[in-house]
Amino acid sequence: MNQPSGPGIALIGCGTVGSGVVQILQESADLLAARCGRRLTLRHVVVRDPSKDRGVDLSGCSVSTDIQAILDDPESQLVVHVVGGIEPALSDITRLLKSGRDVITANKALLYEHGEELFELAGSLGRTLCFEAAVAGGIPIISTVNSALTGNRIRSLEAILNGTSNFILTRMLNERQPYAEVLAEAQRLGYAEEDPAMDVDGTDAAQKLILLTRLAFGTNVRMDQIVRQGIDQIELLDLLVAQELGYRIKLLATTRLKDGRLEVSVQPTMVKAHRSLSMTSGADNYVAVEGDAVGRLTLSGAGAGRMPTASAVIADIVDCASGRAQLTFQSLLRTRGGQQHDLLPAEELSRRYYLRFMVADQPHVLADIAHILGGHNISIGSVRQDETAETAETADTPGIARLVILTHRTTEGQLRAADAEISQLNCLRGTRIRLPLAD
Ligand code: NAP
Ligand code: HSE
Repeated sequence: MNQPSGPGIALIGCGTVGSGVVQILQESADLLAARCGRRLTLRHVVVRDPSKDRGVDLSGCSVSTDIQAILDDPESQLVVHVVGGIEPALSDITRLLKSGRDVITANKALLYEHGEELFELAGSLGRTLCFEAAVAGGIPIISTVNSALTGNRIRSLEAILNGTSNFILTRMLNERQPYAEVLAEAQRLGYAEEDPAMDVDGTDAAQKLILLTRLAFGTNVRMDQIVRQGIDQIELLDLLVAQELGYRIKLLATTRLKDGRLEVSVQPTMVKAHRSLSMTSGADNYVAVEGDAVGRLTLSGAGAGRMPTASAVIADIVDCASGRAQLTFQSLLRTRGGQQHDLLPAEELSRRYYLRFMVADQPHVLADIAHILGGHNISIGSVRQDETAETAETADTPGIARLVILTHRTTEGQLRAADAEISQLNCLRGTRIRLPLAD
């Protein structure tokens, strides 16, 4: 209770994450004061609609729609920015840094697109820009890679980084709930982005993986350089076939250093069911980091949602208020100048694959597909064909069969070429999909 007052805090955005931050600041005020050595006071909240009830008590601070209220208050030195999108986020954070404030953000889309210039700006002004909540929600992966593993050369990252996708895949399989219904529930629970297409098409996971890759490998990667595939094409039947084969389908984000080059991909992937990665369920995230000294380290837990994400923001607030962030941010800036690794072109990625087709249940279909795969030097590991409910009762109208092929190791390039040829076959019916298998 006797701690001196610390930097005044301003909050921009008071939705899912912001309201959780307010709740922890209020309910854990004494604990946080003890940990910072200074009392933290929330002075301003800036939102779109000041009249909205946010389920938290904002009576002790000003609530407005304009960041000018923060800029006009010299006591507010620490700004928590929990608004999505690129603008006005970019302009607001730029103005705040230039005005001498430290900023904490959870906005990975902004950091993916403009992180470099914002870090540069903060560094040149002697300010800090913290972003623990931007990757993997409540899991402290930024500080783990930036501080705790600083003695390691990182060799690989293997992660589940999008809570919404993992929630959808889990619910579809366990509850047989339709895709659209589970996505709506993820939105209601505050897991999804304002535009949930970014969750289900792999963009959000790719942005987070790219941020982690910059941090862990010192290498800048662009979205168009990596293989990115979302969960929006996954059907219940694929989840069920995977289960029967002893796998689970997970939206896996992977960066691996191999022979001096980086392999980077975000794809729904078949993972052996017994692995802890497969057991990551609901909106949880999972990150396995392999360092040359520490070996393989895994972290898992809530990757999205109000309180877990607020927990990560609060860690940044305490780091800023106690002076720790000023040191760790400097070390983050220094790692950016490290070795830039070349990327392995997407076509050269080498894995085993799961291929699933819906085909006319008639002679030669299996032979035609096998012939095309063989022509691209793709070796088949196993084949399984099942009649479906649409199987015809008479021979003159062929029904539809489900054909599942597991290949031996091949490259993404060979498979893309084979798929282009297969797509011309007139035996195809309905959807087809190809997913890599995790090693
Ligand atoms: P949210 O629930 O939609 O809340 C967004 C908040 O921003 C709202 O309070 C909104 O005000 C306010 N806002 C929007 N535009 C604004 C503007 N121009 N000026 C001032 N305030 C504005 O979003 P969220 O889920 O908390 O996410 C916020 C950020 O955290 C995003 O970048 C997201 O990617 C990231 N993040 C979210 C999670 C999660 O689990 N939700 C996890 C990690 C990171 P009104 O309420 O008045 O409309
Ligand atoms: N929409 C994101 C997710 C929020 O579902 O993982 C956490 O960054």
